[in-house]
Amino acid sequence: MSHESTYQPNSGFTRWLDARLPVVRLMHDSFGTFPTPRNLNYWWTFGGILTFCLMVQIATGITMAMHYTANVDLAFASTEHIMRDVNFGWLLRYIHAVGSSMFFLAVYIHMFRGMYYGSYKAPREMLWILGVLIYLAMMATAFRGYVLPWGQMSFWGATVITSIFNAIPVIGQPIQDWLLGGFAVGNAALTRFFALHYLLPFVIFGLVLLHVWALHVPGNNNPTGIEVKGPQDTLPFHPYYTVKDAFGLVLFMLVFAFFVFYAPNALGHPDNYIPANAMVTPSHIVPEWYLLPFYAILRSMTFDIWFLDAKLLGVIAMFGSIFVLFLLPWLDTSKVKSLRYRPMMQPFFWLFVLACIGLGWVGAGTPDDQVFGLNSPVDFKMVTLGQILTAFYFIYFLVIVPLVGIMETPKPMPASIADSVLKGRSAAAAAE
Ligand code: HEM
Repeated sequence: MSHESTYQPNSGFTRWLDARLPVVRLMHDSFGTFPTPRNLNYWWTFGGILTFCLMVQIATGITMAMHYTANVDLAFASTEHIMRDVNFGWLLRYIHAVGSSMFFLAVYIHMFRGMYYGSYKAPREMLWILGVLIYLAMMATAFRGYVLPWGQMSFWGATVITSIFNAIPVIGQPIQDWLLGGFAVGNAALTRFFALHYLLPFVIFGLVLLHVWALHVPGNNNPTGIEVKGPQDTLPFHPYYTVKDAFGLVLFMLVFAFFVFYAPNALGHPDNYIPANAMVTPSHIVPEWYLLPFYAILRSMTFDIWFLDAKLLGVIAMFGSIFVLFLLPWLDTSKVKSLRYRPMMQPFFWLFVLACIGLGWVGAGTPDDQVFGLNSPVDFKMVTLGQILTAFYFIYFLVIVPLVGIMETPKPMPASIADSVLKGRSAAAAAE
């Protein structure tokens, strides 16, 4: 959203700089006076929270890299050295490990927020696509980071996940060898995982810059989904949203600090405190919680279709479940963005959220576990639940989203953002 720059350089140096590299003007116009819808709620604080998470991961990660050794004989010991010998090393590691969970928690809230309010719809498709690319890069980074402590789950997680590529005919095996730098998870894999784990956050940083740029062209969406129609609909970003974002961030940091100081290992797996051992397979190999839904989708394909065998189908379904996110702006046929005014779509959205949580639960169990417990008379296996939820996941995007958009009659909408805000105010005044 272009707006007149009101920046006035007021010293000799800032005037000199402004004529040569107007970075201060850019910051002032983007984060000081940027016209922002006046009705943004706390779900809009997560973009800032995510920026904070990225900074925390980079700062703690670089500091730990000074003490970590990417070699199969030393990786586990060097991680324990960080925990025991390095000053505040335990704090660095716990912030980094809990931080990855917090980063994903925030990104899931941010994505579901975008889906609820239709923020991916025109003219914000590029913003959404860049978001999905960030999400992919986050998953690649987290997966590689989990391998570095070289515990049992690091080793076996890497073995399982890289082996899924060899389900792809012809090119699968070469891809797996290329990812690992050899024929099995070993030193070559560890060193390249470390190199890429260090590099990818900076790729994410670059993508975030583009993401925020793509945000500043159309400007923010808002809870009504109605575009800004004039100055009566907006407020300058500072001080209103800098303060609101800061408050949201403080609440988020309380949750973050709770896990770091009171339950630092609650979100991890105890087996990763056992050094990697190629001769002992853990009874149950699971990824971190934030990747579990995709793991459930991967494992829910237990049957062959025509010449596609179950393993390849699992890989296609897993990658398809992410790829479909890229198409969302075009699958959604509704003219109304915000689900606030879409009564038919709303329950489907909440079912979708439940299905994602359910897939996470299925991903954490073994396929033969009983959904209703071991002694239940009903025979309902986890894998069956996973298959139902996987089917719903795809039906949601490919059938429900396009069809409901055509079929439903939206609720009456306010004429503008200012109208929706002021109506709320007059109703409150009348009630007093
Ligand atoms: C490192 C990760 C990310 C960072 C730092 C980040 C940053 C931001 C920021 C600062 C905003 C503006 C404030 C806000 O609306 O909350 C924003 C908006 C947005 N982001 Fe992200 N983002 C990230 C990941 C993602 C992902 C993974 C997606 C989707 C797949 C996404 C989709 C969006 C959309 C659609 C908006 C526009 C929201 C609106 O105006 O309604 N972002 N992001």
